[in-house]
Amino acid sequence: MKKLGGALSIVLALSLSNSVAFAEPDENTLVVEGETLVTDLEAPEDSPLDHIYSGWRFRSPETQSLQTDDFENPAFAAVENAIAEFETVDGDAGKSCASCHSIGDFEGLRASLPRWNEKLGKPETLEMIINRSRTEHMQAEPWKWEAPEMLAMTSYIGLQSRGQPVDVQTDGPMEEWAKKGEELYYAKVGQLNMSCSQCHEDNYGNMIRADHLSQGQINGFPVYRLKWGGLGSIHRRFSGCMKNIRAEPYKHGSDEFIALELYVASRGEGLSVETPAVRN
Ligand code: HEC
Ligand code: HEC
Repeated sequence: MKKLGGALSIVLALSLSNSVAFAEPDENTLVVEGETLVTDLEAPEDSPLDHIYSGWRFRSPETQSLQTDDFENPAFAAVENAIAEFETVDGDAGKSCASCHSIGDFEGLRASLPRWNEKLGKPETLEMIINRSRTEHMQAEPWKWEAPEMLAMTSYIGLQSRGQPVDVQTDGPMEEWAKKGEELYYAKVGQLNMSCSQCHEDNYGNMIRADHLSQGQINGFPVYRLKWGGLGSIHRRFSGCMKNIRAEPYKHGSDEFIALELYVASRGEGLSVETPAVRN
């Protein structure tokens, strides 16, 4: 019964916190290495949110400060590894990433993902793009979604867009995927019969146990989580939230998580890319 006890305490924590006033997120301004990032903005009219906040705004001052200085940010050890990996030859074609790309070419890419891939006939995430280059252009093995090399590379590539506003395509061929993601976001699932929206839309700003609930935005991913003692992908976080409500999570890289990633990105349009962010 231990599991159920944990689950019930989540519901109890939320119902209790519903009775207290919304706790305004921190008023802090995020300045990283001298650059001011957008962590809140007025939501557009068609948004289900009144106001859009980065997850950074809900963290403690100690966690927040780790993200303001790249020397303090624990994710930067992985970025260092990716800098070396980028130059390393791998696969039967005898190429490194640097044989075909310079890292600066990826400026802006993170802000626009997931994006439509006509050949695949579906949206692709950064992990999928990197693995396509590895298999098609390098004849190398794909990296696992959550492998250290993949997390390091998605951090390093994402970093090239730091400060740029999230802006994803949700029309044209992306429309049905965004709709699918929206359905998943509002669907009640798991033993607790809860949806993403019940926590991240109806209750953001409230406390759930000892955690300050955010809007569940993804502009900082991959994030370094102190609890994980390392980096984790967007799909790992989705998976963890689903497990917390005793639901069977979708697989990393599944169509469901790709659709959810697209939809969640669209809810945070205008926020600055913070990759790699730090969370508790
Ligand atoms: C032999 C050349 C080659 C190598 C080596 C290579 N790529 Fe690529 N990459 C391409 C080509 C060509 C494209 C564009 C067409 C496509 O998407 O397949 C591309 C596209 C990309 C894109 C999308 C760029 C954009 O702005 O749309 C990313 C990101 C990327 N590669 C990352 C990597 C990484 C990381 C590595 C090393 C692990 C790598 N590539 C190795 C040829 C290469
Ligand atoms: C029972 C409440 C609950 C539900 C339901 C829930 N989450 Fe979360 N989620 C949390 C908590 C607690 C955290 C950690 C604190 C925070 O950032 O809100 C979190 C964090 C996140 C984050 C990280 C935000 C950041 O800035 O680091 C994302 C993304 C996220 N959730 C997405 C989702 C999605 C998508 C769903 C639905 C599949 C979902 N969550 C369902 C409670 C929930």
